[in-house]
Amino acid sequence: MSKKVLITGICGGLGMEMAKGFIKKGYQVIGVDIDDLALEGLEDKLGQEIPTFVCDLRNRGQIEQLCMEVVHKGVFPDIWINNAGVATIAPFMEQIDSFSDVMDINFNSILYTTHFCVGEMMKRNQGMIVNIASVAGHAPCPYFTSYNASKFAVVGFTRSLRHELKLKKIPIDVVLVSPGFVDTNIINQKSFEFPDFMKFMLSKPEVTGKEIVDGILKGKNEIFPTLNGKLLLGLGKVGAPVQDMMGHLMNAKNWKQMFGIEKIDPK
Ligand SMILES: NC(=O)c1ccc[n+]([C@@H]2O[C@H](COP(=O)([O-])OP(=O)(O)OC[C@H]3O[C@@H](n4cnc5c(N)ncnc54)[C@H](O)[C@@H]3O)[C@@H](O)[C@H]2O)c1
Repeated sequence: MSKKVLITGICGGLGMEMAKGFIKKGYQVIGVDIDDLALEGLEDKLGQEIPTFVCDLRNRGQIEQLCMEVVHKGVFPDIWINNAGVATIAPFMEQIDSFSDVMDINFNSILYTTHFCVGEMMKRNQGMIVNIASVAGHAPCPYFTSYNASKFAVVGFTRSLRHELKLKKIPIDVVLVSPGFVDTNIINQKSFEFPDFMKFMLSKPEVTGKEIVDGILKGKNEIFPTLNGKLLLGLGKVGAPVQDMMGHLMNAKNWKQMFGIEKIDPK
């Protein structure tokens, strides 16, 4: 029987590419997303029969329902990937109404699905939980308050849980994935578009998806996909001026603004 992998946010850029990668490796894929129409078209895109579940991962009741159905339908996976996510990019004073939504989908949903998965995987005495964070879970950036807060939470939570399970000798792998910028819908929104002059550094979703799948199957528990992500994290360690430059990255309109030679108009 083929191994199973469940992917939340499967209809998005990274979700779809990870699904393709796992299918190539012989896995049965199970898909979860809020986008019911996109879920309907999934089998045509992936060429495999895919059990799918519509779920708004901001809603704890819907998450509990999802978890029950996954077990009831006999498709509880060997690998559960918490990938769904959203980003609100705006000044902090304008984020207060959307802040809890971002925390709910990017962090709280991971908390509840992980709680459920650990219980199920302990019964089966095996399993793997993969949480998709971001370089924004390691490096702060202006206008990213909710996204930074949610992804820093994912990083701390994932690492803490991994240590706890290891200490208790519970055989569940807990994997943290921290990609840099990838050319998907999340960074091509109306309210926030990745700066044109920097687009050359974006990673392609198919390349990043493959990097993540390969890392997971090699048994890595920390995966840092994308060249731009590795660079940003490496540079961030150099010191405050470089961290400032990274902060400018998302808001600068040209190289001069990025290096602080020209003033950036505050939003
Ligand atoms: N693209 C990047 O630059 C980048 C970088 C680092 C980390 N990430 C992370 O990778 C993950 C995937 O992002 P992506 O780039 O594929 O973005 P995407 O926008 O293409 O996909 C996001 C998916 O999540 C789903 N989703 C959104 N809200 C949901 C909800 N409430 N319930 C259920 N599903 C919901 C969407 O329908 C979509 O299918 C996210 O966690 C994101 O934060 C992305």
